[in-house]
Amino acid sequence: MTEKARIGVTGLAVMGRNLARNFARHGHPVAVHNRSYGRTKELVEEFGHEGTFIPAESAEDFVASLERPRRVVIMVKAGEPTDAVIEEFAPLLEPGDMIIDAGNAHFADTRRREAALRERGLHFVGAGVSGGEEGALHGPSIMPGGSPESYEALGPLLEDIAAKVDGEPCCVHVGPDGAGHFVKMVHNGIEYADMQLIAEAYDLLRQAGGHAPAEIADIFRGWNSGRLGSYLIEITAEVLQQVDAETGKPFVDVVVDQAEQKGTGRWTVQSALDLGVPVSGIAEAVFARALSGGADVRAAAAGRLPGPSATAGAADLQADVEQALFASKIVAYAQGFQQIQAASAEYGWDIDPGAMAKIWRDGCIIRAKFLDHIKRAYDKQAGLQTLLVDDYFLDAVSGAQAAWRRVVALAAEQGIPAPGFASALAYYDGLRSRRLPAALIQGQRDFFGAHTYRRVDKDGSFHTMWGADRNEVTA
Ligand code: 6PG
Repeated sequence: MTEKARIGVTGLAVMGRNLARNFARHGHPVAVHNRSYGRTKELVEEFGHEGTFIPAESAEDFVASLERPRRVVIMVKAGEPTDAVIEEFAPLLEPGDMIIDAGNAHFADTRRREAALRERGLHFVGAGVSGGEEGALHGPSIMPGGSPESYEALGPLLEDIAAKVDGEPCCVHVGPDGAGHFVKMVHNGIEYADMQLIAEAYDLLRQAGGHAPAEIADIFRGWNSGRLGSYLIEITAEVLQQVDAETGKPFVDVVVDQAEQKGTGRWTVQSALDLGVPVSGIAEAVFARALSGGADVRAAAAGRLPGPSATAGAADLQADVEQALFASKIVAYAQGFQQIQAASAEYGWDIDPGAMAKIWRDGCIIRAKFLDHIKRAYDKQAGLQTLLVDDYFLDAVSGAQAAWRRVVALAAEQGIPAPGFASALAYYDGLRSRRLPAALIQGQRDFFGAHTYRRVDKDGSFHTMWGADRNEVTA
């Protein structure tokens, strides 16, 4: 009798391939399958010596090669591709078998899929897997959800391939249905916040401290051996120390400063809004990425919105607070109108933002004098990228700027929470920045997930071989 596989992996892009290798390296015969057979063959040719791989060309052969209960790990793109693969395999399985979605699915999709497959007698395990491609190969942190019975049959295998701390596996049954993917989602939300904070720390050390990227790499390396010791701090030092072979410039300076995202951080914030939980740090991180990516708005704002002047003027608390209030309010309206314009473009609504300002001038709760100015701003320029660059608002905000900064500093000094003022000011400063530390975030993403980046000096997407010779390749 031919040997059966203990587990199978379908979807052999880098994460799936590395998970399969990890199972095989731990002595578990693993069935491997991919939409195009070429990739399956490649895996076996290249890494066949690492353990027992049972390649399958068809879904039927793949399923037939698995011992029961069958454990089918799917590692494909979240969303429709996942549903398509489930539909391909579920009919071939028998009661008690399980499908494990190891991708970054939305937990609501996982709940839906789990309920649907339960009706068909199948287990569906939404398992969060973290650690990037290296983690998948050498030991990820695994967050499986689903029924307790499914964990009984699956848990020991996952615990085998997971990272270990003092012999304890970084894998535990998180809870039923979507719990595993929910926890992975929040993990990623925290990841976004962590990366944003690190990027801000770098930016402060560079802009206010005058340190070069290589010096900041050393500072981070020092921090990494203290209480801040962490993977993200460690790789930040690596990214900051990297020099671009082509130009001789610091790597972080040749990367386009527009941080991308696959969406898990955004999902975390959407869920927090539903739950009423203030995840403000994660939300700021998601919005900072969105701000960095808003090339058109930034192009309209940079060079027009003034920065602070050396002669900040005297403090008069009442007058200062009035200025801070006015400037922050302008930012709130500018953001809201930008959201309306974005939705109008997305859904083809053709909304006239000036007309919205007009009908808000009276009757409604946010009626205010300056809505007239908003109307006028859009009358002057229908496609205005942001209200902040309209002359009236530009004057108002630049006039308020020194007072605004004093108020935010005072609030921080005196321990008075002023998140609205502070975040509005940070938004203003973000928008007017010619260069944002989002380039560093792109470097970190490329380091741990091969997510690629764009360069400031040529078209295309690129990846640095961080785990090997650190040369750059076209993605
Ligand atoms: C992990 C990472 C991983 C992936 C993220 C990146 O835990 O290993 O979080 O899941 O690299 O999806 O997220 P963004 O593309 O949204 O930055």
